[in-house]
Amino acid sequence: MCGIVGYVGKKKAVPVLVEGLKQLEYRGYDSAGVSVIGSGIETVKATGKVAVLENKLGGNDFGSMVGIAHTRWATHGKPSDRNSHPHGDCSGKISLVHNGIIENYRELRDLLVAKEHKFSSDTDSEVVAHLIEEFAKKLKFQDAVLAALNEIRGTYGLAILNSDEPEKIYAARLGSPLLLGVGKNENIVASDASAIVKYTDKVVYLDDGEMAVVGSDSYEVVTIKNKKIQKKIDTLDWSIEQAQKQGFDHFMLKEIFEQPEAVSNAMLGRLLVKEGMANLGGLKDVDERLKGINRIIISSCGTSYYAGLIGEYMLEEFAGIPVEVEYASEFRYRSPVIDKNTAVLAISQSGETADTLAAIREAKSKGALALGIVNVVGSTIARETDAGVYNIAGPEIGVASTKAFTSQLTILALLTLYLGRQRGMSEATGKKIASELKKIPKYIEGILSQKNDIKKIAKKLDKYSNLLYLGRKYNFPIALEGALKIKEISYVHAEGYAAGEMKHGPIALIDKNFPSVFVVPKDSVYEKTISAIEEIKARGGKIIAIATEGDKEIAKLADEIIYIPKTLEMLTPLVAVVPLQLLAYYVGIGKGYDVDKPRNLAKSVTVE
Ligand code: AGP
Repeated sequence: MCGIVGYVGKKKAVPVLVEGLKQLEYRGYDSAGVSVIGSGIETVKATGKVAVLENKLGGNDFGSMVGIAHTRWATHGKPSDRNSHPHGDCSGKISLVHNGIIENYRELRDLLVAKEHKFSSDTDSEVVAHLIEEFAKKLKFQDAVLAALNEIRGTYGLAILNSDEPEKIYAARLGSPLLLGVGKNENIVASDASAIVKYTDKVVYLDDGEMAVVGSDSYEVVTIKNKKIQKKIDTLDWSIEQAQKQGFDHFMLKEIFEQPEAVSNAMLGRLLVKEGMANLGGLKDVDERLKGINRIIISSCGTSYYAGLIGEYMLEEFAGIPVEVEYASEFRYRSPVIDKNTAVLAISQSGETADTLAAIREAKSKGALALGIVNVVGSTIARETDAGVYNIAGPEIGVASTKAFTSQLTILALLTLYLGRQRGMSEATGKKIASELKKIPKYIEGILSQKNDIKKIAKKLDKYSNLLYLGRKYNFPIALEGALKIKEISYVHAEGYAAGEMKHGPIALIDKNFPSVFVVPKDSVYEKTISAIEEIKARGGKIIAIATEGDKEIAKLADEIIYIPKTLEMLTPLVAVVPLQLLAYYVGIGKGYDVDKPRNLAKSVTVE
């Protein structure tokens, strides 16, 4: 997720744009850039935070009062000056900034190269500038922009400059947020209100398939079919910080609610439902070598480690590959038996976790194929692995990992399809998994709508200082993750355990003051888990159950129930974790803690 700002008005544009980028920096911060219309289009870009761009500008505003700017969260093309936005066309008359993913950028780029367009970056976004340039050879500029937008597949928030129209900005939206701040003799376009609230509280929210043509004291909105429409002007009553959280009280809650989008983004252009397969471009270069792999070791930390445990179940059951999962901090001190037919997979949101990085280096030194599932593009782990798949989940600000986790599980399901279909998984099974995976974002939305009921249950948990989280098979790691979530943001002692193991010791802890949270979907081990629940019930233990919609049996046993939709067993973790994230969040805020920055924790543990 990137940050976009556009300004046209009576002030010098550069200071407004840079200030706006600073407010949007939480959306992405690996590089930034500005374009303004002075004598022609003047563009300055810099890798790194907005402050680096500001230094590079050195106070120069080119005397311009119209411009666009961008702070990047890389999805295609590593963070670098050349890949930073804004991007231009061959003529130098067009400059644009983009937030989103152009799914068909490769085919468009090939078409444009065939028409002798010269590209200067590795990004998908640059294609849009050249496409507009191509159409503008025959059409009025506004029509050329609309024609280009009708060719694009994917998502975009765009702000576009045309040096032949120095008093205008074109702003279009499909799938990525974009709004227009309506000021006095000035107008501001931005990805969210945090870049606007300083100048005006009057905003127009663009909807998907709309484009605004913005002047300093006027604007017009048309649909992608060039039909003029009237838009309501809303009044903002948000502070800058509230705007960054888009109305949520905390980044953690915002990111929990971003999970439908994060899971969708992880699948974008990768899930082939009709074929029952996955297209993972990031593994193309090692595709042949992957065919020879006879073992996978997954090495990661914390929540990412729990994602790996679920990946183990998926890959062994559906791709028939032996998998081991190791804490990275342990892996590197063992003498792991590794050879060229071993793949070591690092899962890391930050891509900077020292233990995971060390594990990858150790694996590579022993000849393993090093793979990564990483969220931060261009991070150290991403650069040091031989190949991998990016989450494209956008920045995760809350220390407690939520949307990155469900994104990791989505990519592990895609990897299972990718490897499974290479290794004998039937087309029918592939199609079943793929079509169910496609539904997960909707399932998550349904669970999020239960947030108030979950908040009530959290309130009842407030008086306890110990909790046991239990699950089995695919949901044993979810029990571990649920316990970690509540531990790290509400400082309650919680232990995750395999439900079948509880009778080998932990059940001694159970009494009326020691509740148990069971992840007990209707799956292949449901009956076994019900027996564990009955054992705890018999000892006076309180039961909170995460259960499948329509399960009547559990209602006789559990004191509290949160229902989740029925789905394939291998995909239940993607839905079962969401109630546990919300439970942890509401217990944490119930205790008055700063759930975004819990005590003693860092978002990325770059020390060993
Ligand atoms: C999860 O909520 C924690 N913040 C922590 O366990 C985290 O998952 C772990 O430090 C690994 O981080 P990474 O995914 O960035 O490598």
